[in-house]
Amino acid sequence: MQFNRVKGVHDIYVPEIYLYQKIEEVARSVFSLYGFKEIIIPVIEFTELFQRGIGGTTDIVEKEMYTFIDKGGRSITLRPEGTAGVVRAYIENRLYNMPPPQKFFYSGPMFRYERPQAGRYREFHQIGVEAFGASHPIMDVEIMLLLNKILKSLDFKNLTFEINSLGCKGCRPLYKKVLLDFFRKRIERFCSDCQRRFIHNPLRLLDCKVPHCIDERANAPQITDFICDECKGHFERLKELLKTVGIDFSHNPFLVRGLDYYTRTIFEVKSKSLGTQNAIAAGGRYDNLVKEFGGPPTPATGFAIGVERLMSLMKNNKEYESSSPNVFIAFLGEKAESEALKLSEELRDTGLCVEIGIPGKSLKSQLRIADKLDAEIVIMIGEDELSSSTYKWKNLKNGKEGTTVREDILSLFNLMKKRDSQSVNNVNRTILWIEENR
Ligand code: HAM
Repeated sequence: MQFNRVKGVHDIYVPEIYLYQKIEEVARSVFSLYGFKEIIIPVIEFTELFQRGIGGTTDIVEKEMYTFIDKGGRSITLRPEGTAGVVRAYIENRLYNMPPPQKFFYSGPMFRYERPQAGRYREFHQIGVEAFGASHPIMDVEIMLLLNKILKSLDFKNLTFEINSLGCKGCRPLYKKVLLDFFRKRIERFCSDCQRRFIHNPLRLLDCKVPHCIDERANAPQITDFICDECKGHFERLKELLKTVGIDFSHNPFLVRGLDYYTRTIFEVKSKSLGTQNAIAAGGRYDNLVKEFGGPPTPATGFAIGVERLMSLMKNNKEYESSSPNVFIAFLGEKAESEALKLSEELRDTGLCVEIGIPGKSLKSQLRIADKLDAEIVIMIGEDELSSSTYKWKNLKNGKEGTTVREDILSLFNLMKKRDSQSVNNVNRTILWIEENR
């Protein structure tokens, strides 16, 4: 009997896991620079939260949610995104009582029943931020700067932010009307998905990826020509501030988002090397959602990074791999086995990464394993070494070898640790020490 993974999900392990860890590590350090605090929200929520938050006529809610009835007869959904859950938590825990702006980040799996393809999974990971309590575009720019800093720290170059404004509750209806007028005259030329959107969610007509639909809508009216003066002012200031801080952006007047909660600013960061699933991060402002969920009127803005999409662009980068063991302890016989176990723990206490050999294997095959693991130094313990407490060692990097008494190994590593705890893990120093103390 063999079990396979469910379609559209994936395991992340070495070497890709190093990329995942690197992204998380960089993101966390950047979040702390901007004062964002972590929030951990549940993977499951009541289905209605997403229906109301994301919108009943969006693809996510109509087709992609993992929804089930639990044993208590409640409709539960695996979160397809993080914003709705964070807003729920913000209101339920009265986080609006913290001094504004309240800024949160989260990281974890999201679930969408989409057709799997490169860069599109049914379980994927997002790292996202949500900032509450600031209506000025300066907060949009701050989170875009934050995102930019994460991407730059991960060595991404030549990425641009596509931005647009979706207006507000007051001005969007006018645009929807103008848009419907435009499409009504030619709707039979569009794909069946577009024809469905025409009835339920006209803004999404601008988002269809079918080439002939893109051509047909080239002259569609642009939302930024129809938004109210306040929304226009907000968008103009956003662009000015983005220029001031040097963020590379372009205005895509047909950018819309697949979630209904957005107002005013929206943005996506795209990569040309990713094919159709080319957005590596996306977000925007949602000034009405907190109130719609029963909280106090609170403007908000945020984004989420698609971790798998970032990873796929980083695939060839070796430098993120974690280091190999500093020390490998090979041993022969049962007594040596106990000593190897003890010594390995004592060395790990000094901050070294240590692997031990495999019982019953010859010295030759243990050395082969040490070599495969790319260990720096092998310490060899057999019966003779045990009785004299003097261990043979070999530097696999330069071939040098020698013997050292047990106490010296430990006391010197301990001394190094006291002097400079950071450098104990420094392989070069370890090698240097062993060479100096032959
Ligand atoms: P979203 O555009 O639906 O926005 O997702 C954000 C990012 O998640 C996408 O740009 C993409 O990189 C990644 N992503 C989405 N679906 C998949 C998938 N099936 N497989 C792999 N990666 C995927 C949101 O989720 C909003 N909650 C973002 C936000 C936060 N807006 C305001 N605050």
